[in-house]
Amino acid sequence: MSEKNTSTRRQLRLGVILQGAAGNMSAWRHQSVVSDASINFEFVKNIVNKAESGKFDFAFVADGLYINDKSIPHFLNRFEPLTLLSALASITRHIGLVGTLSTSYSEPFTTARQFASLDHLSNGRAGWNVVTSPLEGSAKNFSRQQHPAHSLRYRIADEFLRVVKGLWDSWEDDAFVRDKASGRFFEPEKLHTLNHQGEFFSVQGPLNIGRTPQGRPIVFQAGASEDGKKLAASHADAIFTHQHTLPEAQEFYRDVKRQLEANGRRADQLHIFQGVSVIVGDNAADVERQYQETARLVTISDALNYLGRYFEHYDFSQHPLDEPFPDIGDLGKNSFRSTTDEIKRNAQERGLTLRQAALEAATPRPLFSGTPEQVADGLQTWFEQQAADGFIIQGGTPDTFARFVDRVVPLLQQRGLFRHEYPGVTLRESFALDYPANQFASPRELQEAVQ
Ligand SMILES: Cc1cc2nc3c(=O)[nH]c(=O)nc-3n(C[C@H](O)[C@H](O)[C@H](O)COP(=O)(O)O)c2cc1C
Repeated sequence: MSEKNTSTRRQLRLGVILQGAAGNMSAWRHQSVVSDASINFEFVKNIVNKAESGKFDFAFVADGLYINDKSIPHFLNRFEPLTLLSALASITRHIGLVGTLSTSYSEPFTTARQFASLDHLSNGRAGWNVVTSPLEGSAKNFSRQQHPAHSLRYRIADEFLRVVKGLWDSWEDDAFVRDKASGRFFEPEKLHTLNHQGEFFSVQGPLNIGRTPQGRPIVFQAGASEDGKKLAASHADAIFTHQHTLPEAQEFYRDVKRQLEANGRRADQLHIFQGVSVIVGDNAADVERQYQETARLVTISDALNYLGRYFEHYDFSQHPLDEPFPDIGDLGKNSFRSTTDEIKRNAQERGLTLRQAALEAATPRPLFSGTPEQVADGLQTWFEQQAADGFIIQGGTPDTFARFVDRVVPLLQQRGLFRHEYPGVTLRESFALDYPANQFASPRELQEAVQ
């Protein structure tokens, strides 16, 4: 790989996922891990501080709304994303703070308000990961009879996003004049009341918080089905996805960018992040030792539970372990559709047994593992061959992340692929995305705003 350092080169972007002990569902048992990592603020703070020292774009918090006694330990006892990110906002200066919130089980007004507050609190570092909630059981926690079907969830999400974006534009940037002499607190013509009446929501507005430092928080989308990609192409600034091979990732990348352009948006207005598991070692034997040390903590019964969660908590233990992956029909279509389709296809194409499929899902071999140079080479290849605009790093072992920051990030910097300093204060600046115009401002005001 070349070591050319040119500042005009397209820059890759990095996030870190905060998911407790990292590695796999049983990593809390690893000798080097504090066993309550998922609910330990000191632990989270250390990772985020490390990420900020490595000039990472953002820290990312996934979430879910339903657990049972088969859920993985991290899901059983963890922080609510926006509460955690608000606490992190006050101890960090540059790193973006991206949290997951469901459009199937939230209200647009509250959501708009929460993320606007996080954007103000953090001086422009808030991001919202839009999800539609895959788990059927979520309905039982929200006074609902039924979990909405996959396509309905995406229709709701589309309207939800339109309402939230409308609410975020309730006030123009300079609406609050706070003129003590005249007693004028705001300019009435810069206040816009949404008056939304739609299929799923009726929201009058305005929002009771002003336009945010980023204009509006950054919107991520996680969900890789056709409906998911369509939603992202209409609304999102970034996508969180997982593809298993370079050609699959390239196809996903091409497809999303094509849809973006079909919607009249530029290809560089949405960043595609591949969530990647990484192990950094001194040599192949060291990498294998680290992998086995974490993988061997997962029992087959843990692995079956892990697999079952994707399929609406299906009980795979009723099937023989060493026979071909069982035919379970359409189960999973209404929950983690893109993920369950992939698990079934992979098991069928490679003729995996249930045991192999479960262990592969629960203890996957990291996509990028090796020496620091090998990991940097892999990321560079995916980035340069248009499979990703950036990566969300998921430690393949509990010790990986610090090693990634200390040993891989400097290589990416030397190669001119990654920043040495933050370009500004906001996540939008780190992402090199344009400041969004207020959709309700008159053309004259818009012109003045850009001057
Ligand atoms: C990479 C990825 C990450 C996801 N993260 C979350 C999450 O943190 N919380 C959640 O409730 N759903 C999450 N989802 C689920 C989606 O929001 C969605 O409900 C489900 O995957 C079905 O959509 P799809 O078939 O379009 O992928 C994620 C999906 C993907 C593909």
